[in-house]
Amino acid sequence: MARFPELSGKRVMVTGSASGIGFSTAMRFASEGAFVFLVDRDAETLERAAKQHGNFRGSFVADVSSETDVVASFAKMDDILGGIDVLVSNAGISVRSACTDISYEQWNRVMGINLGGMFLCAREAARRMSSQKSGVILMTASTNGTEGHRWYADYNASKAGVVLLTKTLALELAPHVRVNCVCPGYVLTPMQKAEYTPEMLERVNEGIPMKRHADPEEVAALYAFLASDDARYFTGADLRLDGGETAGLYP
Ligand SMILES: NC(=O)c1ccc[n+]([C@@H]2O[C@H](COP(=O)([O-])OP(=O)(O)OC[C@H]3O[C@@H](n4cnc5c(N)ncnc54)[C@H](O)[C@@H]3O)[C@@H](O)[C@H]2O)c1
Repeated sequence: MARFPELSGKRVMVTGSASGIGFSTAMRFASEGAFVFLVDRDAETLERAAKQHGNFRGSFVADVSSETDVVASFAKMDDILGGIDVLVSNAGISVRSACTDISYEQWNRVMGINLGGMFLCAREAARRMSSQKSGVILMTASTNGTEGHRWYADYNASKAGVVLLTKTLALELAPHVRVNCVCPGYVLTPMQKAEYTPEMLERVNEGIPMKRHADPEEVAALYAFLASDDARYFTGADLRLDGGETAGLYP
């Protein structure tokens, strides 16, 4: 369903686009007529995903925590599409662990992907968008980056970092380049499903005011809006899309 005609022909990179929120976002931009370049570290799933829409114009296997991989991804997109108009920096991982069980290796891995990867992709996009004096950078943070949640100390710290990275880049890149992040609450994606038994899913749903998880398509819809001209005054924003999860004091 195309809602934003101005997105037609825009060159869009989505990271973590082989699955979940990233895949739905890539599909949404493609259905708006944008030309989408998919980046993911999972070669097999990415190859399958890249065949799902005619407006998927390229894909690249890359680990966003590797500077070499990120630089190569943007170079490949430059070759194929001649540049970038919109970045949706979304790749991320989470590992449920008590804070006392988090090894420093795990801490660095989570930080390297969730925060380091966001920085590297945003930097490459910003270099291009600053010189062309236009562009939109969007990042997937989380409500885990705005409130404390047990068992995810490394993940939560990385997502809080994404919120401040967003705000800082928004200040530095205004007025030509807009930078925003989305803080989803619970979204039913493969990453999230992997953490649940059916009973856990029911219990979590009960605690969410909207009584359900978000669909990845609902996050994709917010990204399409944020990239559109209707969102032209949005920059430096962290938008919660959480079904009311963080509206009260005791979620
Ligand atoms: N699902 C949720 O409830 C939820 C809530 C808030 C935020 N998020 C965030 O949304 C983003 C997407 O999560 P999802 O739920 O769609 O998960 P997902 O596991 O379904 O998809 C994540 C994708 O990112 C890719 N990826 C992981 N590490 C990568 C790396 N180093 N380099 C490149 N690609 C990599 C994976 O291969 C996968 O295709 C993540 O940043 C996550 O933290 C998810």
